[in-house]
Amino acid sequence: MRLLVTGGAGFIGSNFVRHVHRERPEWEIVVYDLLTYAGDRRNVEGLERVSLVQADVCDEGALDAAVAMCDAVVHFAAESHNDNSLESPLPFVQTNLVGTYQVLEAVRRHGRRLHHISTDEVYGDLALDDPARFTPETAYNPSSPYSSTKAGSDLLVRAWVRSFGVAATISNCSNNYGPYQHVEKFIPRQITEILDGRRPKLYGAGENVRDWIHTEDHSSGVLAILERGRLGETYLIGADGELSNRRVVELILRLMGCKPDDYEHVTDRPGHDLRYAIDASKLREELGWRPRYRDFEAGLEATIAWYRENPDWWRPQKEATEARYQAIGR
Ligand code: NAD
Ligand code: DAU
Repeated sequence: MRLLVTGGAGFIGSNFVRHVHRERPEWEIVVYDLLTYAGDRRNVEGLERVSLVQADVCDEGALDAAVAMCDAVVHFAAESHNDNSLESPLPFVQTNLVGTYQVLEAVRRHGRRLHHISTDEVYGDLALDDPARFTPETAYNPSSPYSSTKAGSDLLVRAWVRSFGVAATISNCSNNYGPYQHVEKFIPRQITEILDGRRPKLYGAGENVRDWIHTEDHSSGVLAILERGRLGETYLIGADGELSNRRVVELILRLMGCKPDDYEHVTDRPGHDLRYAIDASKLREELGWRPRYRDFEAGLEATIAWYRENPDWWRPQKEATEARYQAIGR
């Protein structure tokens, strides 16, 4: 098997590459990544049987050549941060929609298997007291430029399956945490703010709930779907990890030896989704998938240790990221 992983130098994509490299030692992996501000070649350096093509998923010629030499494609490449999509939506339309279109056309031309990576945000948000969770049947109702372009990309995949018989599956996962996540995202931002002697920043009242999953568990779910998922199907990936942002910040502060209320409230994100919650029973029951990281506090402690031990990795991103946040008052 030679596997093409688009976006394989980003946070989740590179975790998936390391996961597959470990779990399927006979496979070759080609990482296809533009290395935008969010990608880092160091994330996949030094791995035998892993090569890197630096190119854009919107570049039809480069993508076609890469897809032609591989047996299957896992498509992670995307613009991924909601706050950026509110400031500058065009790259989201380009990469998430046009990029996915190019991936679909390339796998169609070459008859290759595709797994498309998506997000629970396509379903919109839930009330805090709603007993319902997202299932593969939940209607799409995205809120932001980011989530609407991801929703559009899922619909393109569904259309290419039905109209052209493309052999594809889709997964929609909840919020990931773990090492190698860009410091613009919630958990690494707070950890590195504390390491830099500043206070964590909570949007609004901090009541918003996210359903946390360790990125390793996302990777094992994707591999299970790639190998054993039913073609044309959508699987939701989540590990029953619902927590309010306030509780997460308090936990980070406590684990880092600070007072749990030593954070500040900043202006809320416009259109901020209130709550996400995943029902992953289809993945569990059909494919026997189980998350390994069930103890969020232990996973968070290991993540904090990783950022403490790897300032050389995150330091180059930090200043520009905080300057961007300062410009928008968050
Ligand atoms: P990330 O921003 O860390 O990584 C994105 C990667 O894609 C980077 O390496 C970047 O260089 C690459 N990329 C961006 N534009 C590209 C282009 N035009 N051509 C080629 N490569 C390009 O994102 P992430 O958090 O690792 O998310 C990866 C995927 O998982 C995305 O599709 C995202 O929607 C999805 N997802 C993320 C989460 C989460 O919690 N972060 C949850 C569910 C689903
Ligand atoms: O649900 C899956 C999605 O999770 C993925 O599709 C996205 O790619 C990923 O970025 C993530 O989206 P969120 O918007 O939920 O993640 P973010 O890390 O930006 O924020 C998590 C929560 O924390 C959200 O409610 C906003 C809040 N927040 C964020 C930052 C950066 C803060 O309170 N303070 C902050 O400084």
